[in-house]
This record gives sequence, structure tokens and C-alpha cells, in this order.
Amino acid sequence: MKDLFDEIDTHQPERQPIGEGAVLLRGYALQLGKDLLPSLHDIGAAAPFRHMVTPGGFEMSVAMTNCGQAGWITDRAGYRYDSHDPVSGKLWPPMPDAFLDLATGAAREAGYPEFSPDACLINRYEPGARLSLHQDKNERDFANPIVSVSLGLPATFQFGGLKRTDPVRKFALRHGDVVVWGGPSRLCYHGVPTLKHGSHPQLGSVRFNLTFRKAL
Ligand code: SIN
Ligand code: FE2
Repeated sequence: MKDLFDEIDTHQPERQPIGEGAVLLRGYALQLGKDLLPSLHDIGAAAPFRHMVTPGGFEMSVAMTNCGQAGWITDRAGYRYDSHDPVSGKLWPPMPDAFLDLATGAAREAGYPEFSPDACLINRYEPGARLSLHQDKNERDFANPIVSVSLGLPATFQFGGLKRTDPVRKFALRHGDVVVWGGPSRLCYHGVPTLKHGSHPQLGSVRFNLTFRKAL
């Protein structure tokens, strides 16, 4: 009988190409971990995580907040970036230096030395939460890559092609892993299937994902 795990790539080289212009950097965020977590906590206090509503009227199972000049939001009016948190009416908290250094370092490592993010979407997954297959395409210019940092509970990352129906490969993402995709992969479909129960030694029963983008 075929084990479910057969389909998930659990190899752990430090640097794993996952597509043209796309690379998985195992544990890249670990050195910076201790600076990231207090910043993450402060951002969540200033701009609390919330479950946004899609244009179709569905509440997302992933809770979100943002930091940086531009924050990604969704509501009945559509998907977009806004300089202000619609809940508080205040600017999003600034992007901490530890976040910026991590994102630019990972991008450089992946072959994108010019990356200068102005937006960081922070996703909080509790067990049962999922993010269906989608493209990141609300940014002004697709010349810049996406840098995606995983913290806390492990998850499966689905990485497909430029069409929704293209085959999808699955990668196990663990605390500290960073995925960068740009160039020919910039508009690849990706998603995270339902998060499994578990407990992470530092973060407990939760996964965070930081998605850095140049939005403006
Ligand atoms: C996203 O596509 O915004 C998040 C991906 C992830 O949680 O790893
Ligand atoms: Fe995405």
C-alpha cells in the first residue's frame, strides 16, 4: 500500500531547487530565530491577527496581519494592499530590521540580490487551517521574488505551475525553512493543505508564515 508520505518530499539538503528561479533554503531563518519571535509578538500586539473575508464572502481559516509600508488585505471589495490596518485605521507596524535582514539575505542566497520588500504578510495557522492553491498577483511588478518563511508547526507546501491544473509537488516545511520563488516561477500556484495537530517547542500549537513582497 502506498504511504501518504511517499508523495511528500522530505529530503533535507540545505539548498533545494524546487523550480526554475525557485529554491527551498532549509533552516535559513534559524540563526535569526531569537530576534524574529519577539518582533512577531510585538506586531501581533499592535495589529492583532484577524480572519479576513474573501471577495466571495468566505472567512479565511488562516488568521492574518501585516507589517511594512503596505499590508495585504481582503474583504468583500477585493484583494489589495493598503498602507493602513482597516481594523484600527492606523498604519501597519514598521518592518523590523530582523525581518528585513532575513528576507533580503534569503533573496540574495536565491539569486535575487536587489530584493527590497515593502510588505510582509503574516499568516497564523492553527491546526485545521489551510490556504488553498493560489497565485500571488496583487503586487505591482512581478519582477521581484516572493520570500516565504516558516515558523512553528510543520506544514506541507504545495508548489505547482503557472496554471491551476498543472501538477503540484509537495514539500515538508519546518521551523526556520525559507522558500523563495521568482523569475519564471514568480506566478506559480502554491498552497498549504490543512495543518495537522502538533506542538512546537517554542511556539506551541501554531504555525506562522512570513511572506515578504515588494508590493508597491
Ligand atoms: C502564502 O502563500 O501566503 C503562504 C504560504 C505558506 O503559508 O507557506
Ligand atoms: Fe501566496
